[in-house]
Amino acid sequence: MARKKLLMGEVARDSDLVFNTPASFLEFFHQINCEIVLELACGKAAYVRELAKRYPNRFFIGVDVKADRIGYAVERAREERLDNVAFLNIRIEDLADFFPENSVSEIWITFADPFLKPSKSNRRLTAPGFLEIYSKILKTKGLLHMKTDSDLLYEFSIESLTANPDFDILAVADDLYSVDDLPLDLVIQTPFEQKHLKNNLTIKYVLSLRKPESNCGNCSCCN
Ligand SMILES: C[S@@+](CC[C@H](N)C(=O)[O-])C[C@H]1O[C@@H](n2cnc3c(N)ncnc32)[C@H](O)[C@@H]1O
Repeated sequence: MARKKLLMGEVARDSDLVFNTPASFLEFFHQINCEIVLELACGKAAYVRELAKRYPNRFFIGVDVKADRIGYAVERAREERLDNVAFLNIRIEDLADFFPENSVSEIWITFADPFLKPSKSNRRLTAPGFLEIYSKILKTKGLLHMKTDSDLLYEFSIESLTANPDFDILAVADDLYSVDDLPLDLVIQTPFEQKHLKNNLTIKYVLSLRKPESNCGNCSCCN
C-alpha cells in the first residue's frame, strides 16, 4: 500500500499534466483559451474527469495537496484519453498565486474534510479565508458548487456564504437525491460519495454565485 502510494506520487511528479509552482503553471495557463473549471480537494479527480468527458470545449483542473491521489488522477486521465484536464498538486490556500483575478468560471468542492473541531473551522474549504480566495479568482457570475455528506460542513458553508457580500446562494439541498429532475452534472459520484451513500448518509449541496463587484443594476453583469 505504502509502495503504491510512493509510485503514484512519482507518477504525479513526473507528469507534464501536474504543476506545483506558479511560474510553470501560469505559462501553461495562458495557453488555455476556453472556460476554466476547478475541482478542489479533488482526490482522484473523479468529478472533473467525468465533467471533462461531458464538456470537451472547457478545460478542467483538479487541485489536491496529496501527490499520490493526483498521480492516480493522472493515470486515469491518460487511460481515458482526456486532453482537457490538468492538475495542481498544491494547497488550496495558495490558489490565488496560480490564477489571475476573474479567470475561473466554476469551482466544485467535492466531499472536503469537515474538520469537526471548532478550533480547526478555518481549515474548512468554505471558511471566510477560502471564500476570499475564490471570490478573487472567480469571474463575475462564476459558480461555486459544494457537495458534502457532512451536516456540519453544509450548515457552516451556508452561514459562511450568507455572511460574505461577494456571494449569493442560488440553491441548497439537504438531501440532494430527493430533489426531482436533478441536473445530470450533480449526480456524478466520487469515491467518497459512493462510500457515504453505501453508509446511508444523505448528500447535501450548496450552489452559490460570485456577485458583480458593484451592483449597479444596469449593466449586463448585474442583470
Ligand atoms: C475526503 S477527500 C475527498 C476526495 C474527492 N473529492 C472525493 O470525493 O473522492 C478530501 C481531499 O481533500 C484534500 N485536501 C484537504 N484539505 C486540502 C487543502 N487545504 N488543500 C489541498 N487539498 C486538500 C485531501 O488531500 C483529500 O484528498
